[in-house]
Amino acid sequence: MAKAVLGIIGGSGIYDLPGLEAVEEVRVASPWGEPSDVLRRGRLGPTEIVFLPRHGRGHALSPSDINYRANIDVLKRVGVTDLVSLSAVGSFKGELSPGTFVLADQFIDKTYLRQPSFFGKGCVAHVAFSHPVAPLLQKRLAAALEAEAIPHAVGGTAVCMEGPAFSTLAESLFHKAQGWDLIGMTSMPEAKLAREAEIAYAFVGMVTDFDAWHEEVGPVDVAQVVHHLHANADKGRRLVARLARDFPAEHEPCPIHSDRALEHAVITAKEH
Ligand code: ADE
Repeated sequence: MAKAVLGIIGGSGIYDLPGLEAVEEVRVASPWGEPSDVLRRGRLGPTEIVFLPRHGRGHALSPSDINYRANIDVLKRVGVTDLVSLSAVGSFKGELSPGTFVLADQFIDKTYLRQPSFFGKGCVAHVAFSHPVAPLLQKRLAAALEAEAIPHAVGGTAVCMEGPAFSTLAESLFHKAQGWDLIGMTSMPEAKLAREAEIAYAFVGMVTDFDAWHEEVGPVDVAQVVHHLHANADKGRRLVARLARDFPAEHEPCPIHSDRALEHAVITAKEH
């Protein structure tokens, strides 16, 4: 059994984890290039944590400029077994109002400027990805949200757009009409790469706005987004602390095999 190492990718508004004990900064070289920042490794309660701010400290990287492959690669190299992705999102549902945390478990990938795979020339692999989220990790997140009394919803579909501009009204109405729940700019290809790296992955969408569809609220207002980012960041840190407090010492094998995704995925012949 592998020791559990909990990876946390912090989105907009979450650039550090203040409660982290015995912190060391870890620079890991990756053949995929530069990750968003140095890793911060430490402990929260009994659990080993590795933290990476997705946009870099100071928010220097736009969603399209993030090196998602390097980020997932360095997390894998330091032994992360379970990965929680925290992301600011817009909402398509009246009941998922700003401040709500949504454990989305399905994604629509509308990105087009990012490298979506570790595989390609020389080694071809097609991982199963019908269920992008590791159910046990999602369950633990739901329990932690409940314990912290953070308003939340379990399950949902998040569309990932390229950005960095927000959607037009027509796009927003279209996405809402599909029945989707959330929109963000960073879940993809992060979730796909975590699967290829055989890391159990779960997504926490922290709602900051109603995108553009809401007649009374109107277009996305960056000042409002920033206001909710700050309030959400505090809740996000509480969520992580609670999750870590109750996290098992050994990695729990994923019932949908997300942590063994390559067992049946590589097509290229071994002697190739
Ligand atoms: N991140 C936060 N709010 C968003 C929105 N409305 N669209 C895309 N990404 C977002």
